[in-house]
This record gives sequence, C-alpha cells and structure tokens, in this order.
Amino acid sequence: MSFCILTHKPKSHFVVNVSNSFRKKGYAVSVVDFKNVAVKIEKNNISVFDKKSGKDLLKFDAVLARPMEAIDLMLFAFSINVLFILKESKVPVVNDPISYVYGSNKLTEYILLTRMNLSIPTTFSAINEVNPFIYINQDRLILKPICGSRGFGVMEIKRREKFHLSKNEVPIFQNFVRGGNFDIRLLVVNKNVVSSMIRFSTSSRTNISTGGKPMKYEAPEEIKKLAIDASVAIHSSIAGVDVAIDKDGTPYILEVNTQPDFIGLQSVSDINIADAIVDGFLEAVKL
Ligand SMILES: Nc1ncnc2c1ncn2[C@@H]1O[C@H](COP(=O)(O)OP(=O)(O)O)[C@@H](O)[C@H]1O
Ligand SMILES: [Mg+2]
Repeated sequence: MSFCILTHKPKSHFVVNVSNSFRKKGYAVSVVDFKNVAVKIEKNNISVFDKKSGKDLLKFDAVLARPMEAIDLMLFAFSINVLFILKESKVPVVNDPISYVYGSNKLTEYILLTRMNLSIPTTFSAINEVNPFIYINQDRLILKPICGSRGFGVMEIKRREKFHLSKNEVPIFQNFVRGGNFDIRLLVVNKNVVSSMIRFSTSSRTNISTGGKPMKYEAPEEIKKLAIDASVAIHSSIAGVDVAIDKDGTPYILEVNTQPDFIGLQSVSDINIADAIVDGFLEAVKL
C-alpha cells in the first residue's frame, strides 16, 4: 500500500504529523509538493508525475490532498486539475476534489449550507460594496473576504463608521454572531466529530493564528450534528467547522474548512489528531 500527501506546504505541521502517523501505522507515504507536479496531455493519455522523484501519481493507492494555497487562482486551478485527473483515473482522493471547489470561497459554502437548511448568519455580498447596512438592518456586522483563511481580513464594522475594502477584495458581510467572547471549532472526520475546542478572544476574530486561546470542549450533540451536516453539505470527509452561538443560544455555522490545521486543537485534545485523520482517510478510501 502506498499513499501520497499532495500539498503546497510539505513542511507544515499538518503534513509532518500526518505523514509520521502513516509511517507509524506501517504505511508507505510520499509527500509530494504541487510545485513539482507535471501534467502531460497527449492523444488518449494524460499523465501526472512528480518531476523530482519521477513518481507517477496515478500509481498511488490513494491521495490525501491539500490543494489550497494563499489566494492564488492560478495555483488553485492547477492543483484542482491534478486532483480531478487522479479521481477520474480511479485514484481515491481525500477530500473529494469537488469539496475544494466548494470550499475555495465562502459564498459557495453559505449557498450550499443554506440549501441544506443549515443555520448560517444572514449573509450579503456585492463587489465593491461599502454600504452593507442598507441591505442588512443591523448596527454591527462582520466583514470577511470571499476567499480567505486564518482570520485574514476579518473585521467588525459598525453602522456610520467608515471602513475600507482592500484592493481587489470581494466582501462578505454577515450578522455579528457571538454570545460570549468565544466560538467553537469542531474537527469532523467521516461524519464523526473527533475533537472540538472553544476559542476565546476579546477581538472580533477568534482564530488561533490571530491570538485566540484554545480550551478543551466537548460539544453538545446538537452542535456536533450541525458540524457533521455542514461537512456533508460541502462534500468534505475531513472538515474543520467553525460555529458561533448567539446570545439566544442559536448556533450558526461561520465556515467549513476543507483543509483544516490542528495545532491549536491538538494542544487541548486528548486524542492524537494526526492518527484520527489517517484512520479517517483509510476508512474514506476503503483500504
Ligand atoms: N458572522 C460572524 N459573527 C461573529 N464573528 C464572526 C463571524 N464570522 C466570522 N467571525 C469571526 O471571525 C473568525 C474568522 O472568520 P471565518 O469565517 O472563520 O474565516 P477564516 O477563514 O478567516 O477563519 C471566526 O472564527 C470568528 O471568530
Ligand atoms: Mg475560520
């Protein structure tokens, strides 16, 4: 059995820990950088290989993919094509490539979540919009870029207070949802919540990368179900789901991460998350 982790960040915490877990469990795993991958298209044949090792990617038994890199449409376009070629050639890919298409921007996610009747904050998006309060009658909104992660560009805006959009930013505006100074991150693997935490912050973003403080937390069944349903809506077998609870106790999904990291979560978790991800991967690809 030979597996591949296909990534833009071979040295990241995720890749290092998950590849160690594969090896610990006795599996051969190659870490391949998308930046070394080549696609060759000829009459009746498409090949995909690692230029560095010469390895044919279509020969792996299954691939764990991390195709999202910064906000770069060209890198994403290349990477997602590689994943679709693998899938079409019957190489199991986790997550399913379509989930990365859905997860590549937050607006698609909110549309899919709403279509599945899952709870999200009221959401509004329009290119160059700087007066969202006309469309959402609230005094306080969250502004976040349509494509983004780790809290980048997320801020609170208030009626009658000026704010500026970054150059080329397509904004998403949402009702500000927060009962206390925290929200919840749940890691879903194959329709199971394997770990969850609360992230505390006094700022408008709770991301660990922006200083949010993690705390061990066992989510109630209702929130777990919401996170699982959200992962299904985005077709993501491994998903990091962010949930906020409003003052009246109603939970809202803030986003579904199709390429979740787990440094913060591991620091407050009793289980080995890399092992849970590898077990989930093996189960998802039925090997
Ligand atoms: N609608 C919202 N109401 C209140 N806080 C929010 C809302 N949306 C996002 N946030 C805060 O901003 C953080 C980052 O937003 P999120 O949608 O998860 O994007 P990112 O991909 O940057 O993590 C969230 O973890 C949460 O703390
Ligand atoms: Mg988030």
